[in-house]
Amino acid sequence: MEIQRYKTYDEISKASAQVGAEIVNNKPNAVLGLATGSTPLGLYKEMARMHKEDGLDFSHVKTFNLDEYVGLSPDHPQSYHYFMHENLFKHINIEPQNVHVPSGTTKNYQAFCKWYEERIEECGGIDLQVLGIGSDGHIAFNEPGSSLGSRTRIKTLSKQTIDDNARFFEKTEDVPIYAITMGVGTVMEARNLILLAEGESKAPAIADAIESPVSSMCTASILQLHPFSTFFLDEKAAGNLKMTEYYKWIQAKKPGAPSSC
Ligand code: F6R
Repeated sequence: MEIQRYKTYDEISKASAQVGAEIVNNKPNAVLGLATGSTPLGLYKEMARMHKEDGLDFSHVKTFNLDEYVGLSPDHPQSYHYFMHENLFKHINIEPQNVHVPSGTTKNYQAFCKWYEERIEECGGIDLQVLGIGSDGHIAFNEPGSSLGSRTRIKTLSKQTIDDNARFFEKTEDVPIYAITMGVGTVMEARNLILLAEGESKAPAIADAIESPVSSMCTASILQLHPFSTFFLDEKAAGNLKMTEYYKWIQAKKPGAPSSC
């Protein structure tokens, strides 16, 4: 687990986009796991810029999104299908058949969830999974108490998540109560995980995830068990961490380490 602290949101976005670009440049048919919400907007903007200005090629890339609201059709402005199209897919050269976002309107959720898991496997697994974190410590929509071995399924959103996400809807009652989401176990099978967080509202969840014992009460804490997980944090999100000097030391010394480390 690696902790990278940055002064600004812009720096988080650029540094995390660099990780994505390296993976895509080294493996043109890479499989990317994507998140929605406010946090990855800068990352997607930077990826779109890299495509336009540096020729970053997504023509063979496949993507899998973490989650979708139950009941929202792909053309609903608050659906995650719509979000991804508007904020990333329409700005890059990705093939529509290579894009996967869970269905919020399938007639058979159980069958869809099974298919989604199988499709990830069929595509060779996820090379890089992008994650945000909820103020209740969730990754994807794995709310407190979610099994740490869970797979793609329907979850009931916590009241805290509904309140947090109400900012995107006209009123709180419009926020869907259920979501279809990759499980913690699904996320953990990705070969690399990057979790982005900005702002002080995320500071308690970040401290729980990094410095408290692994617990289903903060599903992001499972990143402690992943061999290649990196947190990209601004100073506010990192504000409740106790070992700040240590993380700064490690980050500063990393460039000098032998490359096989
Ligand atoms: C979204 C997702 C969620 C968000 C989290 C943070 O696809 O999986 O876990 O990453 O709720 O959302 P923001 O970035 O809006 O604070």
